[in-house]
Amino acid sequence: MAPVATNEKPTTLTSVQSLKGVNTQVINAFYSPSVGDNGDDTYVHDQFKPVFPDLSWPPLEEVKVTDRGLSADPEKKSLLSAATKIKHYTPAIGTELSGIDLRQLSDAQKDELALLVAERGVVFFRDQEINIQEQLALARHFGPLHKHATTPIPKVGLEEVHVVYNDSSRRPDSSTFSKLELWHSDVTYEIQPPSTTSLKVITGPEYGITLSSLRYALYSGLSPGFQTYLEGLKAVHSGVAQAEGSRAAGIPVRRKEIESIHPVVRVHPVTGWKSVFVNPGFTRRILGVPKAESDTILNFLFHQIAENVDNHARFQWEPNSIAFWDNRVVTHTATFDFWPATRHALRATPHGEKPTSARVAKDRQLEIWKQQGLEIPTNGKTYSSKARGYND
Ligand code: SIN
Repeated sequence: MAPVATNEKPTTLTSVQSLKGVNTQVINAFYSPSVGDNGDDTYVHDQFKPVFPDLSWPPLEEVKVTDRGLSADPEKKSLLSAATKIKHYTPAIGTELSGIDLRQLSDAQKDELALLVAERGVVFFRDQEINIQEQLALARHFGPLHKHATTPIPKVGLEEVHVVYNDSSRRPDSSTFSKLELWHSDVTYEIQPPSTTSLKVITGPEYGITLSSLRYALYSGLSPGFQTYLEGLKAVHSGVAQAEGSRAAGIPVRRKEIESIHPVVRVHPVTGWKSVFVNPGFTRRILGVPKAESDTILNFLFHQIAENVDNHARFQWEPNSIAFWDNRVVTHTATFDFWPATRHALRATPHGEKPTSARVAKDRQLEIWKQQGLEIPTNGKTYSSKARGYND
């Protein structure tokens, strides 16, 4: 299908639309693809509404990816000096840059953006006029683009765009999913899961947040013995449930589903920092250990991802906001508290390298403490034997 260049106009739908006559479908927010819509054909972004073309794509093959962050100035001077404001959300994760127009980035600034995203996990911009063609071109700078096998593409037919779309016709049904399973890193079942991924909200509800959880920090927060144990392990990431969910909804699966085996502790090719590479959405089992052990370890790690609020960034969207996250090191989830408002976003998803592990890599937190001149205990961390039990 022919690509189109368009300037999407942002829309905010703050008021609750009339639901009279709307055939509301209940959905599992993660595994139910965005089928159908509320039928409003006057909608300003109608051309980006979700469709599921009946196509058949061959399996993905390995592609060479060289991370652009490797070419960046480590101090990221040209990007950061162009910002009018740099706001770090927490010491660990999340940075919002103001005063930058993403359409104007030089190649050096794009490389520095890749590095910043790798270091901070997720980077946000507001008031961005960048259109989907420009967003795709920027994403291609970071790597060859992924085409999702099951999620919708826009009506205008851009196969590399993943459409996120919910409106009044789809009511999340909490009896069909838990909030824990909504936490995911994108398509980690692929041979080369994504790197610097971008999502732009073109229609935003008044409410609606995306939370990101930093898996460098998950690794740093574990005891040295447990870190070493995890470093020897590999896990299965599966696209089967997602594909089956689509078939059950009568939606074509465009590429046969796969499962991939990836290291449980992954090393980022640019920062050299270790992260725990598992997520509730797609990681199914740890290989070579009893199933009960695999279930328990994964459950523990999944709960750490979802519950350790010190590792979280929360981003409140507005129309024309765009987020870049490094899928290699963050897990994310969106809130689904905005129904019946419309939330519509477009994602561009570059492939990263094949995940690798290396014992000589670094613990991000220890590196930061070293830079700050703080004394580091010889085993890396100390734990008190006394429970503190403080609450108020
Ligand atoms: C996604 O996983 O790409 C969507 C995240 C979001 O809707 O905020």
